[in-house]
Amino acid sequence: MQSYSLIAPAKINLYLEIIGDRPDGYHELAMILQSIGLADRIDVRANGTDQIRMYCDDPQVPSDESNLAYRAAALMAQEFPQSYKQFGGVDITIEKRIPIGAGLAGGSTDAAAVLVGMDLLWKLGLTQIEIQELAAMLGSDIPFCVTGGTAIATGRGEQLSPLTSPDFLYAVLAKYGDIAISTAWAYKTYRQQFRDSYAPDNETLIGRKQRVHSGAIVSAITQRDGKRIGQLLYNDLERVVLPTYPKVAKLRQTLEELDTLGVMMSGSGSTVFALVDSQAQAETVCQQLRTLLPNPDLNLWTTQLTASGIQLAH
Ligand code: C5P
Repeated sequence: MQSYSLIAPAKINLYLEIIGDRPDGYHELAMILQSIGLADRIDVRANGTDQIRMYCDDPQVPSDESNLAYRAAALMAQEFPQSYKQFGGVDITIEKRIPIGAGLAGGSTDAAAVLVGMDLLWKLGLTQIEIQELAAMLGSDIPFCVTGGTAIATGRGEQLSPLTSPDFLYAVLAKYGDIAISTAWAYKTYRQQFRDSYAPDNETLIGRKQRVHSGAIVSAITQRDGKRIGQLLYNDLERVVLPTYPKVAKLRQTLEELDTLGVMMSGSGSTVFALVDSQAQAETVCQQLRTLLPNPDLNLWTTQLTASGIQLAH
């Protein structure tokens, strides 16, 4: 039976601004999304049955419809019934390396990999745009995960404008194993507390949405100015997550005391990241953080910013 192995990178948010409410109940966002080297590995294999079956080396990862990767396969079966009839179901195997509830799009990137893998397996020949349209039906940041790299993301997060990747930068990621944060909770709480700051009408909303394209952090990325990128990191969701999770706030504060280009929480957390300009400096920051916060439940990773999304594994 034919199979494909794919690399599914995580993402961090270099910028996340909540602009306002959308008629569909989601938030209008202006973000800059960035792929990183930390990645899951996904195998998609035709199984000769009519079933979708999932296997994962992390017992915390569900293997039913509550998993986005499963839902991606179910969506493909629904959208391409002829191919489903011809090729049958799939076995999806996930080697989980991206932490869960981390604000790193781990579930979303796995789903993106399943869409790409099944397009190959079923010889559909879909374009990137067609795959991204399917991805948007599953979740707001899945279209980005398909192409990856660096992009301005507006709308729900699915309207993408690519930027040249600052792939000369490295990141230290820090996350407590026992703190997983629900994205839905973070946005709901933000709405409860900060609705007054939302764009009051459509004109203001469009204006604020367009402003990100000419924003200072976009110029810093275009000019490959790592120092400026570090200074301009931004995330509105810190305003609800940090007061609710003092351990995350303390982690962020401790990282800020070290020699980095900048520190920020990724997405809805609970990962906090620091940008640095070399692998050696990333390792130094990890060692210093371990000494300052000697908690065995604190997980650290060093990784490079990358220009690629879902790719075939070699
Ligand atoms: O689209 P996705 O399933 O990834 O979103 C998770 C949750 O985050 C949604 O249920 C919604 O509550 C919130 N969200 C939002 N506005 C967005 C994206 C996500 O309110 N643009």
